Amino acid sequence: MRFLATAALTFSQQFLARVVGPGAVAVDATAGNGQDALFLARLVGPGGVVHCFDIQPAALAATGALLARSGLAGSARFHATGHEHLAAVLPAAHCGRVAAVVFNLGYQPGGDETVTTRAETTLAALEASRTVLAGGGVISVVCYTGHPGGAQEAGEVASWCRDLDFALWRAARYELVNKPGHPIIVYCVEKAAQAG
Ligand SMILES: C[S@@+](CC[C@H](N)C(=O)[O-])C[C@H]1O[C@@H](n2cnc3c(N)ncnc32)[C@H](O)[C@@H]1O
Repeated sequence: MRFLATAALTFSQQFLARVVGPGAVAVDATAGNGQDALFLARLVGPGGVVHCFDIQPAALAATGALLARSGLAGSARFHATGHEHLAAVLPAAHCGRVAAVVFNLGYQPGGDETVTTRAETTLAALEASRTVLAGGGVISVVCYTGHPGGAQEAGEVASWCRDLDFALWRAARYELVNKPGHPIIVYCVEKAAQAG
């Protein structure tokens, strides 16, 4: 395909790569197997930081191992707590400096499918993300709708996006509408540069 990304993740990564550069601070709010953290670590380079959150120690271990194998563990910080606490956990010097917060909702691929993100904590984490983002910073949320609670969570993320003040925020959605099966929806949120 030439213009439309074949996968939601590809689209999300294209969105993130525009704003996350060398030396940046980024947050992987759902570390899982570490693919998003690896992508962010490559973008920020050795002078940047990627804060990785997950409530499952096994997920953080998998993420750490992947980054170590790739020689990028030095830029990662691991937080074994829910992403809803991210504003309290990030060092004060990083609050207001974050270039991107990345959410890949649902369960860890290959892991315990009963441990999923939940709408209530996801919305709390999105609110926290607003406060730590730099002006011009972005949030990417990949929503899966095929598992229990996934469609409801995606609906609540959509409502949260719709309620953002248009003067300070832009929110868009990306979805391959002819993809068979349960929809995968990417929400892309951008904070105005002057929002500080
Ligand atoms: C779809 S996976 C993430 C995939 C991952 N980004 C990757 O590249 O492999 C979702 C992850 O969110 C985690 N999770 C669930 N609730 C969470 C919470 N409140 N805070 C942080 N992580 C959470 C799960 O443990 C799971 O590992």
